[in-house]
Amino acid sequence: MQFYIDTANLDQIKEMMNWGVLDGVTTNPSLVAKEGHKDFHEFVNKISELVYPRPVSCEVISLDTEGMVKEAEEIHSIRENVVVKIPCTKEGIKAVAILSQKKIPTNVTLIFSPMQALVAAKAGATYVSPFIGRIDDISSDGMKLIKEIVEIFENYAIETQIIAASIRHPMHLVEAALIGADIATAPFSVWQKVFNHPLTDVGIQRFLEDWKKLQG
Ligand code: G3P
Repeated sequence: MQFYIDTANLDQIKEMMNWGVLDGVTTNPSLVAKEGHKDFHEFVNKISELVYPRPVSCEVISLDTEGMVKEAEEIHSIRENVVVKIPCTKEGIKAVAILSQKKIPTNVTLIFSPMQALVAAKAGATYVSPFIGRIDDISSDGMKLIKEIVEIFENYAIETQIIAASIRHPMHLVEAALIGADIATAPFSVWQKVFNHPLTDVGIQRFLEDWKKLQG
């Protein structure tokens, strides 16, 4: 499973790149707004340069096909690793089909049902992003959605990659990996939790204490 960070914070990306385990980045308009990146094209330029050649998903805000395609062409022309994030609407799917013909990579976002994922794949999406946490938030089973999409894509050898998104805690990562999601994208706070375990800390402390005893 590939590890993506879901953030528009460049320092968090730099830190996870330093860990040597980062495969890509996803952003969305809320994350960009949270970091105050007012000039979107400047932000896309900075983030795509920082993570290159890893892919970075940047989202369009138009709601009509024509507007989405125009925005997509503009942001993808900034750097080749910019993947265009498109919401899963009828207009969005039409845009994905056009962008697929133009060889512009897309990440279809806000996916909450298996058929949304299948229709996005049929239109030629490079990635689909089912949102696990937001389904759990409404007392439903987000992970079941990942399971169903994985099974459907396997049935038809569909190449579109599945990004388990809206991840809230490390167990979401474990379950996504067990099911076989191609990618998991999670906030920095979740990735930080993954690399620590109290027994690892206690173990190191004991090893060092025993080593010191040996030295006298
Ligand atoms: O970026 C898409 C997705 O990961 C958002 O997650 O936590 O806002 O539901 P969340």
